[in-house]
Amino acid sequence: MQSIMTTILAIESSCDDTSAAVLRDDRLLSNVIASQKVHEQYGGVVPELASRAHQQNIIPVVDAAIRQAGISKEEIDAVGFTRGPGLLGSLLVGVSFAKSFATALGKPLIEVNHLQAHVLSHFIDRGDPKPQFPFICLLVSGGHTQILLLRDYFDIECLGTTIDDAAGEAIDKAAKIMDLGYPGGPVIDRLAKEGNPDAYKFATPHIEGYNYSFSGIKTSFLYFLRDRLKEEPNFIEEHKADLCASIQKTIVSFLLKKVERAAIDHKVRQVAIAGGVSANSFLRSELQRICDKHHWRAFIPPFQFCTDNAAMVGIAAYFKYLKGDFADISLPPYTR
Ligand code: KG4
Ligand code: ZN
Repeated sequence: MQSIMTTILAIESSCDDTSAAVLRDDRLLSNVIASQKVHEQYGGVVPELASRAHQQNIIPVVDAAIRQAGISKEEIDAVGFTRGPGLLGSLLVGVSFAKSFATALGKPLIEVNHLQAHVLSHFIDRGDPKPQFPFICLLVSGGHTQILLLRDYFDIECLGTTIDDAAGEAIDKAAKIMDLGYPGGPVIDRLAKEGNPDAYKFATPHIEGYNYSFSGIKTSFLYFLRDRLKEEPNFIEEHKADLCASIQKTIVSFLLKKVERAAIDHKVRQVAIAGGVSANSFLRSELQRICDKHHWRAFIPPFQFCTDNAAMVGIAAYFKYLKGDFADISLPPYTR
């Protein structure tokens, strides 16, 4: 009997992670991620260095993904790649590689939107129940904060978005103010576990509808610390855990209050989270608590699918493959 399974090679290079994955239908065979340590010393992603690191990583990463999947190149039916949004120099490496690889194999190309990929990561087969349409997804990363209503894989309505900073950006900036290194999200998450989330209160802004704003929270955090440091020079050092727990609670509560509202208003009983910040343990437990309260179902991604990875690009490419939605070789990347 002839196999009707589809094998996809997927490539992600939109920011500072070089990643390649192989999927057979909706099952993951491999997902290799090379994170770039070079940015840590600069306190943020340096685009030129990211692009150069992608160039160094892309061939070994793709090679490892194919090897770990236990397939030969000839078995690949299509090559999926992140077309955008992201950093131009980073995207160009993955896009160019995908184009040449697909051309060499004589296989079709599939372009993937990075944000859709984050959300569709919930459909990678793990033997667990998957979200059913319609559902709400909070997409929270270093670059994006959106409440999305999914009616189908590619029928996605953006109900709300941030009008300034992304949630991950706000968390990273708070960490930077406390001198916790970059990216600060995982550090705040860890330190917050030892702290009191109600120790300090930071005001959240009143923003219309399902939109967010994070620049004010960051500023009030900065001014609060500046005032305290005048009286107690060791204030940050001595209250680090409480500060982390409090700023984390402020941001997570603000995020979830609007998500809860959106689900009630749209009579949706399933709520998912996606993106780098969905790795946050307080966000994960709070989402579960709210969903339990309403008898809703919460969908929380495994850690490997929260931050940037090619597996999520592969599942999005797979659904496009089923629709015959292929990309032209001349397509350029897009940054926004
Ligand atoms: O999705 P992602 O890897 O890249 C973007 O597309 O932006 O998200 C990165 C963001 C960073 O802001 C990082 O600090 C945050 O996700 N992050 C976390 C945690 N792990 C990563 N934020 C809070 N808690 C975490 N455990
Ligand atoms: Zn991302």
